[in-house]
Amino acid sequence: MRSRIRCRLGVALAMVFPAAAIAGPLDPTGQWTANQRGDAPLPPMGWSSWNAFHTDITEENILASADVLVRSQLAAKGYRYIDIDDGWWLKRRQPDGRIIIRTVNFPSAVMPDGNPSFRPLTDKLHAMGLKAGIYSDIGRNSCSQVFDTTAPNQPEGSVIEREIGLYGHVDQDIRLSLGEWGFDLIKVDGCGIRGLPASNPKVQSGLYRAFPPLIDADSLARTDVAAVRLLYGDVADAVARVRPDGHYVYSLCLWGSADVRAWGKDLGSVSRTSEDLSPTWGRMLHNLDTVSRRELYGHPNSWNDADMLFVGSGDFDENHLTEARSHFALWAMVNSPLIIGYDLRHAAPALIHLFGNARVIAVNQDLAGNQATIVFDSDEVQIFVKTLSDGRKAVALFNRSGLPVDATLTAEHLSFTDADDVELTDLWSGATSQFRKERDVHLAPRQTVIFTAHGTRQLPGGLYLAEQPGSVNPAVDGVEVPTPDPLVHRAPLPWLGTHHGGDFPRYGGWGGTRVGRTPYDQPPMVAGQPLSHTIGVLANSRLEVRNAGFSRFSMRIGVDDSTSDRKRSVTFSIYGDGHLLARSRPMRVGDGAQSLTANVAGVKIVELVTVSDGTGGSPISADWGEAALTR
Ligand code: GLA
Repeated sequence: MRSRIRCRLGVALAMVFPAAAIAGPLDPTGQWTANQRGDAPLPPMGWSSWNAFHTDITEENILASADVLVRSQLAAKGYRYIDIDDGWWLKRRQPDGRIIIRTVNFPSAVMPDGNPSFRPLTDKLHAMGLKAGIYSDIGRNSCSQVFDTTAPNQPEGSVIEREIGLYGHVDQDIRLSLGEWGFDLIKVDGCGIRGLPASNPKVQSGLYRAFPPLIDADSLARTDVAAVRLLYGDVADAVARVRPDGHYVYSLCLWGSADVRAWGKDLGSVSRTSEDLSPTWGRMLHNLDTVSRRELYGHPNSWNDADMLFVGSGDFDENHLTEARSHFALWAMVNSPLIIGYDLRHAAPALIHLFGNARVIAVNQDLAGNQATIVFDSDEVQIFVKTLSDGRKAVALFNRSGLPVDATLTAEHLSFTDADDVELTDLWSGATSQFRKERDVHLAPRQTVIFTAHGTRQLPGGLYLAEQPGSVNPAVDGVEVPTPDPLVHRAPLPWLGTHHGGDFPRYGGWGGTRVGRTPYDQPPMVAGQPLSHTIGVLANSRLEVRNAGFSRFSMRIGVDDSTSDRKRSVTFSIYGDGHLLARSRPMRVGDGAQSLTANVAGVKIVELVTVSDGTGGSPISADWGEAALTR
């Protein structure tokens, strides 16, 4: 009835306002709306200049690492992108606004016509079988201009000549970098719209123009989320125009600010979820945590990016291979891009060996694109499980702490039956072993044990939705007020030390859709009964599910017991390619779980929609429990 009324209303509106958008956000679209533009069906792999050189970059030191990638066979194993980060600009030439490369550091860019070009360098990288990435900023100025006073190779000239960011020059700069120069990837940072208020000493001294900050990385409330999204959307469109062949990667670098969790996946190939990684254990945990509980927000062509690897440096150097392996394995499990950030000229063989572990790389590069989900969570031990395209699982048991820990891996964690053996392959050693029901695993301090596992599926002939996060897009996650995620590990930022009051939760994400938990990290339970394999949502959410040829969808749904609002009810609806397939009766907290099934044969996009009656009140947690797609 409700949809018929909505439909009639829609027709009426369309007659009055033919161009008006008539669909509400919870109306089914029959579409997959997470980004599909560009070319990142797998998490990008490669090397970036930033962690190794900061702005002290030259053509020579970049090509040297590219050369090692090729000679060491790392390129053949997938590390293809060579990304030039901050530090390549000389100025924005006036009056034509063309960006001029610092040719002293990039001699091959000198051109007889006086228009420096990166084309010789990108040609060279392409001829080596590699791809080339470039860096810019969404504002007028770059991160090192805004935040670093000592960085070498800063843009020169007048105030306007030093404005090398995209703001006001999107089309021109994208045509230059991805068109004329032939780059395959662009990373777009956000410091120019974050750090240049009129009060900034660099603004007051006349170095840069003020840009009233759109982002306050410390406060979602003080951030203009819509304006930030608009700017990044303009760049997404410009990139797609310049590269209609679709052969590009658009990398968003907003460090998890501006609620980018909710929309970065709709615009970019990859999207950063946290501040810059530092080579310290605590900051590695921090960056990991900003990605690992966003398992449903990363998919092929819209990956969560935990930042470039720091394997090789600090707590992850060749004398700390346990930590280095953990960092690498966890980035692989959560489908973060594997971008090496080390000066490979000086890499010890053990590091090249680690980067080149084909078994771990294969986990990251698995075609299904399912980010690992957390099947056991605590501040000390975590167990991550990632469903691979051939039905096997990758599983990582991670000791976050500085003390040894005994953990137990169960067949249940893997959604395998207890009745049969589970075969494990250790991804570090290649050794194989078996267990039935459960297996004890001893973890040294900071160790990650990582296996692939083969067993008998609990759900023969199908997959739980909870096993395929790469095919689930929380198009609308029901979060009304973006709130910082309190579960993210807090470690001092090296550049602030203990000068300020300490780190505090600031990355939006709390209340987002989760696998195996409610949005507020509770065990899913309806009317006292635990629900397994649950996608936990807030009411007034819409999930898009790519159906890989399944014909039946069944589940048990209900309002989660953790909900404090006892009055409002929630209706659960299943749509197939935009058409209603099944709908629950209105359910309140305390009502027993209801079974829903739908015939999804031939359906491409299934949508799972929850709608509450009335608004206001506290958020309602709703469970799509035991949601199973079968053939
Ligand atoms: C920001 C980004 C980093 C790097 C630097 C360059 O901090 O998050 O990844 O690009 O800018 O200045």
